[in-house]
Amino acid sequence: MFNSFFAIIFLIKNLCFNLLLFKGCKLSSGFEKIVWNSTFETGMEEIDRQHRLLVDTINQASHLLRDEYLQEDLRTIVNNLIRYTQFHFETEEQLMLERHYSHQSPHDYEKHIEEHFEFSTKVLEIHQQIQEGKSIEGEEIINYLCQWLVGHILHTDQVMVQTLYKNSR
Ligand SMILES: [Fe+2]
Repeated sequence: MFNSFFAIIFLIKNLCFNLLLFKGCKLSSGFEKIVWNSTFETGMEEIDRQHRLLVDTINQASHLLRDEYLQEDLRTIVNNLIRYTQFHFETEEQLMLERHYSHQSPHDYEKHIEEHFEFSTKVLEIHQQIQEGKSIEGEEIINYLCQWLVGHILHTDQVMVQTLYKNSR
């Protein structure tokens, strides 16, 4: 009974995925920002807390880049983003390792690690551009970060949590 309830909720979440992507990333003068809602919650308190921190950081960057900004402020936000991203991915990857996710669901595990790598690479690229004093495409970067994070939380992280919950019973 409990399992089917979870499965139905999960199915509804997936069916609404595109709609939620649209709803989760709200456009404000070209720059998206992430509007947190209950569909982002995985049920794992620590993971949710870290997701909120990442969402806040991306929203701060989105807000900053809309107007004239100090390079120093941008550097601080991007440094925070690198730190939180690294810390958060390590938390999830440690969890997957401890719970043998790679054995439970090898394809999902590999996809998950690849997505983390893709995002980390992008954030480091942005950092590199800033360090080299190059101008950055603020709107394009923010919209990429928003869409990636919302998509990853709503799909990839939810799949991971559902699998870990299911197999821990
Ligand atoms: Fe993840």
